[in-house]
Amino acid sequence: MCGIVGFVGRQPAAPILLEGLRHLEYRGYDSAGIAVYSEEDGLEVIKTSGRLQALIDIVSGGKELTGTMGIGHTRWATHGEPSDANSHPHVSEDGRIAVVHNGIIENYMEIKQLLQSKGVSFSSDTDTEVVAQLLEYYYRGDILQAVVEVLRVIEGSYALGIICAGEGRLIAARKDSPLILGYGEDGNFLASDVTAIIGHTRDVCYMDDGEIAVLDQDGIQVYNAMLEPLQKEHSYVDWEISAAEKGGYEHFMFKEIMEQPEAIRKTAFPRLDSGKVVLENLSLTDEMIRSLHKIHIIACGSSYHVGVVGKYNLERLLRIPVEVSLASEFRYANPILDAQSLVLVISQSGETLDTMAAMREAKRLGGRTLAIVNVVGSSIAKEADDVLYTWAGPEIAVATTKAYSTQLILVDMLGLYLADKRGCIDKKLYKRIVRELLELPAKMERVLETTEDIKYYASRYFNNSSVFFIGRNLDYALSLEGSLKLKEISYIHSESYAAGELKHGTISLIEKGTLVVAIATYTALFEKAMSNVIEVKSRGADVLALTTDSHAGSMENTADAVLTIPETDPIFLPSLAVVPLQLFAYYVALHRGCDIDKPRNLAKSVTVE
Ligand code: AGP
Repeated sequence: MCGIVGFVGRQPAAPILLEGLRHLEYRGYDSAGIAVYSEEDGLEVIKTSGRLQALIDIVSGGKELTGTMGIGHTRWATHGEPSDANSHPHVSEDGRIAVVHNGIIENYMEIKQLLQSKGVSFSSDTDTEVVAQLLEYYYRGDILQAVVEVLRVIEGSYALGIICAGEGRLIAARKDSPLILGYGEDGNFLASDVTAIIGHTRDVCYMDDGEIAVLDQDGIQVYNAMLEPLQKEHSYVDWEISAAEKGGYEHFMFKEIMEQPEAIRKTAFPRLDSGKVVLENLSLTDEMIRSLHKIHIIACGSSYHVGVVGKYNLERLLRIPVEVSLASEFRYANPILDAQSLVLVISQSGETLDTMAAMREAKRLGGRTLAIVNVVGSSIAKEADDVLYTWAGPEIAVATTKAYSTQLILVDMLGLYLADKRGCIDKKLYKRIVRELLELPAKMERVLETTEDIKYYASRYFNNSSVFFIGRNLDYALSLEGSLKLKEISYIHSESYAAGELKHGTISLIEKGTLVVAIATYTALFEKAMSNVIEVKSRGADVLALTTDSHAGSMENTADAVLTIPETDPIFLPSLAVVPLQLFAYYVALHRGCDIDKPRNLAKSVTVE
């Protein structure tokens, strides 16, 4: 994942850019660079492949660079290998214009060939360099005009930061890739992620697609593509920068696991008023809610797993069909939708490309979209008809944890809200579920107190080369997430399997030494779960079971090891039971010496660069 930071003001830009890039490091990158401009020294560009520290060392922390305007970038290669030449910023042939870019210029080959035929020579393999060269081609003494010309030519996605020698302004442009503007006391900022600038300002605004911004030391002006000035709404970032740092924990993933009780309080409690679920600013009317006849859930990865749990819970509460689809499949599946279909789009980042594309397809087909998103102002949040934020704070570890549990809570709350509006939920049940919701964070804290037991079991089983997560119904839905967590960060091959389906072939893979994590929290199917445990034990598997307090006794007689969670309404079982599975994956990965926060070849979410 690439990161952008930019600054123009009354103090040297380089240290600010380097500090901003430091806060973006968690996103994963393979090279870093900055460009700064001053009248005395002109445009200076320093970039290198490898760690940010290498760049910091080259420029001695930036203190020798006097320019008060600059742009910085961390790159995750897509076009061209990680190398110094392919690192950003990219510079026009005449050395006047520097560009940083997130996204993909889809028609870059065409533009490159055209410019080469006019004698322009390129120094990198990237798509981004065409933007710099094209800017030089159109430049007639006004960089803003040149940007407007270039945006007419390039196709694809971009968040762009541009500076030009001789001009005291920084230009930004956005399409399908996030870009944030920050209003500071001593200058103004640009960033692809708010963590890069909140050390300097909390007064920000989120650029929309098609907008161009001009930043100078005194202010920011945002324009539409026709260069008509726009009035942008400011947002205040109310979380602390420490929330984006490790806060004393060894890994972001562990910190975020531990934050879950608090994150759930933040998601749920402000939305409870006198025992009722209140959802803010929904444009979905009561009439629309009553006329709904189907819900589609679309998402990727862990967010999709939330959807699988959501299907069980929403169907239970609403008694209307719920179809859950992987966004990458949905977008090409010619799905059947109409105005009475509610399309629930789930995404932590709000920037996942497949999810965005699936949402657009759902809208095109006439569905009504409601997004559950963590990142405020993200693309999916902005394009959905309605948005509910999880309010979980920044999630930095690649392996999602608190986003999963808070998304689940919000889906459940949405289910209660819709069921109430449709008049299909018994008042006593509604009350009981709300009471359970209020008790959930404290129960989760109890689960977190069992961390040492989980750590011990991880030390016992971390060497297994094949792990099965099995369960039925809600326990099966949860097994998907347990398995993904383990394989994602520990690189152990793992499968999640509907326990009742094992006997139809896959049981042949279960043999002496196979670790089976048997999830048996759903009381209604506990006996079935027990018979599956007995079956896999008879084949020599090691069984680590996860069940509720009241079933611990009988499970202990059968499984090799047992983890427990407190009782709760089934609707909340996966949000509680996911915690031991997250911790198990975390400790297994720790034992195996894996890079937990940035597992190999994985970015936080699969968005455009
Ligand atoms: C899970 O740990 C992963 N980070 C991944 O599966 C993630 O949930 C998926 O890429 C979707 O991301 P999103 O929620 O930001 O859309």
